[in-house]
Amino acid sequence: MNARPIGVFDSGLGGLTTVKKLSEFLPGEDIIYLGDTGRVPYGSRSKETIIRYASQDAEFLAGFDIKAMVIACNTACTSAFDVLDRSYDMPVYEVVSAPARTAALSTKNGKIGVIGTNATIRSGAYEAAIKSVNPDLEVFSAACPLFVPLVENGRYGAEDIAALAIAEDYLLPLREKGIDTLILGCTHYPLLRGVIAKIMGSDVMLVDSGAETARLVAGDLSGRDMLSQNPGRGNVRYFVTDSADGFATLASRFLESNVCGLVEQITLE
Ligand code: DGL
Repeated sequence: MNARPIGVFDSGLGGLTTVKKLSEFLPGEDIIYLGDTGRVPYGSRSKETIIRYASQDAEFLAGFDIKAMVIACNTACTSAFDVLDRSYDMPVYEVVSAPARTAALSTKNGKIGVIGTNATIRSGAYEAAIKSVNPDLEVFSAACPLFVPLVENGRYGAEDIAALAIAEDYLLPLREKGIDTLILGCTHYPLLRGVIAKIMGSDVMLVDSGAETARLVAGDLSGRDMLSQNPGRGNVRYFVTDSADGFATLASRFLESNVCGLVEQITLE
């Protein structure tokens, strides 16, 4: 048993999709969340810059004596996971392997789509992870760089005209490939699930990278006997590198609970 908190970080709101699922699977756990909102998006930056930002995020969380770290950002995982995993003597979780495995085991026709930021798609990490499960699968990837700014600006409703137009432009080529499974390879994208589902149709299974990883983290921490025995609800504290108010409003809407008052602004550099 281990009552210390779990640290989770992302470039912005996206990692909350992981926090929401973690709190569902592990309600008694305390969580420290960092959203680097002052520097979002990470996905259009160079690998070196992403490693520097992710290292600063991880260092901030490590200051809370956390027992495990979840890099709830595909972009940071595909550029900086090895560096962070080597740097800390605690379980460090990435968000690519679990959804890749779920997709590889779920597809019926062997055609999987992957959407993510420029950096994630450029890394080829999803393709490699899927093919390591089954080399015969076909993988079709597309970068969707405008999705993150849409989400960060609250423009993710299923009827949002801008979101629908942009999503159509990114996703129609994937639909035409006949994929039956689509990995949302960016933790921001589940907020656009309604929009994405509308374009892809109900026959395409959407795989949420944060949710799949939260399930894996819950099982792994339990297997290591590292869960807190708190029978009540754990505390979640939120830190951001830009205005706390804007984040609190969007986060409260997404999490369906009022987090105003729990969000603090900090500086990393
Ligand atoms: N949510 C992040 C991801 O999973 C990154 C978005 C960004 O900052 O570009 O890739």
